[in-house]
Amino acid sequence: MAQPSPTHATAATPRHIAIIMDGNGRWARQRARPRTFGHAEGVEALRRTVEAAGELGVGYLTVFGFSTENWRRPVEEVNALFDLLRLYVVRDLDRLAREGVRVRVIGDRANLQKDILEIIDRAESRTRANDKLNLTIAFNYGGQDEIARAARRAAEEVKAGKIVPEDITAQSFARYLDTAELPPPDLLVRTSGESRLSNFMLWQAAYAELVFVDRLWPDFDKNALQAAIEVYGRRERRYGGSDPAS
Ligand code: FPP
Repeated sequence: MAQPSPTHATAATPRHIAIIMDGNGRWARQRARPRTFGHAEGVEALRRTVEAAGELGVGYLTVFGFSTENWRRPVEEVNALFDLLRLYVVRDLDRLAREGVRVRVIGDRANLQKDILEIIDRAESRTRANDKLNLTIAFNYGGQDEIARAARRAAEEVKAGKIVPEDITAQSFARYLDTAELPPPDLLVRTSGESRLSNFMLWQAAYAELVFVDRLWPDFDKNALQAAIEVYGRRERRYGGSDPAS
């Protein structure tokens, strides 16, 4: 018998899943290890999740890697998170490119180091033609900061006479966001039992189904992703409309 295709999206498969990968620090503390150890294990969970998303036929996966608020953490931890981004891209880029993954990075690039900017450019340009899975890493990202930067871009276009203020609508504004090329997330997962958005995809998550998973990020795997997708599949999405049965 022919092997089933490893990619099997169903009607209940969300097109776009966004994940707040939370709990690395607690995972490390439970093992009396430094927080950076938890982040390193978090990269392993990210690898598993990217693979699982591809196998499950998810089209877009967006993960929160470093927030604009994470600069408040000790400098060693900030450096470790930057090193993990470098390592992840350097080690995985060939494989991701071969497997049809398109990599994007969203967030404020204004104050990022030159080598990080080069790594991001390399990953994005190398995978530009891919479309099996769109992996977006939110790095130096904050939802409020993203909306403010988008508003600034729109204001600059008004100032340059390219648009008039009346052109700015909820629909047209989305094209100024970092996520202009992405559909909005259908499912937003946060691990570690916390029930907050923490400044992640504030605009885009307007109608996302939120699923809070009681598991620390380094323990996340394909089964956990499938379980979250099943919860999503049982939700009824109304986008502000009413339930036709009531
Ligand atoms: C939250 O855990 C996690 C982060 C702040 C960073 C997520 C980063 C990774 C999974 C590493 C891989 C990143 C890239 C970009 C390849 P926490 O430290 O807040 O955990 P805690 O709430 O238990 O302290």
